[in-house]
Amino acid sequence: MLITFEGIDGAGKSTQISKLANSMTGQGVEVVTLREPGGTVVAEKIRLILLENQHKISSVGELLLFSASRAELVQDIIVPALAEGKTVILDRFFDSTTAYQGYGRGIDLELLQSIIALSTCNIAPDITFYLDIEPEDALKRKYSEKSIPLEFDSDELDRMEQSGIEFYRRVQQGYREIMQLNTKRFVSINALEPANVIHHHITRHLKDRFPV
Ligand code: TYD
Repeated sequence: MLITFEGIDGAGKSTQISKLANSMTGQGVEVVTLREPGGTVVAEKIRLILLENQHKISSVGELLLFSASRAELVQDIIVPALAEGKTVILDRFFDSTTAYQGYGRGIDLELLQSIIALSTCNIAPDITFYLDIEPEDALKRKYSEKSIPLEFDSDELDRMEQSGIEFYRRVQQGYREIMQLNTKRFVSINALEPANVIHHHITRHLKDRFPV
């Protein structure tokens, strides 16, 4: 089974992923936890190029780098893990590309679909949890985590985070449209609820959708 988590930066995905991985492992499920971009030696190198804020990267270059990182992860790790019957929990997958590079950067959505098909070997998540949060709240969280004043050009932020509030509004709108087109796969959760409550929603949805 492939479970993905999506949401804008600061939505709290990593907290939920580690809670879910712990609880599933506790129930004897074999779980592999991964994040995008990254997860193989080459994909982690690509991650550094993408996130280091010294580089300027074009939108198309950015898209292709995220896709290259994904192709490595899918072929080397995800396909074999799924074939072994493991549960893969993935922090971001192709919906991030549609939301960030498509809606955020304005790359043609149809063109994106072919690149996504190529980089994923047509693998799709069985379920996707979307942690819904207003960009302002998400960014406030992110800034307070890093204890820095709210400025988008801060050196403390990675290259994507420096994109500004309007960019994040487009990304959020993108996620909402993607969800409307994929209502069966997506579960939207209010990211401002306490972490334990969110975890409870997530496990309940999984039990309802995939009863043992
Ligand atoms: P990361 O530090 O992993 O952020 P987060 O904890 O919010 O997931 O950085 C990943 C960044 O890359 C994040 O800003 C989202 C962005 N991204 C894309 O723009 N397109 C993609 O296809 C993926 C996978 C990520």
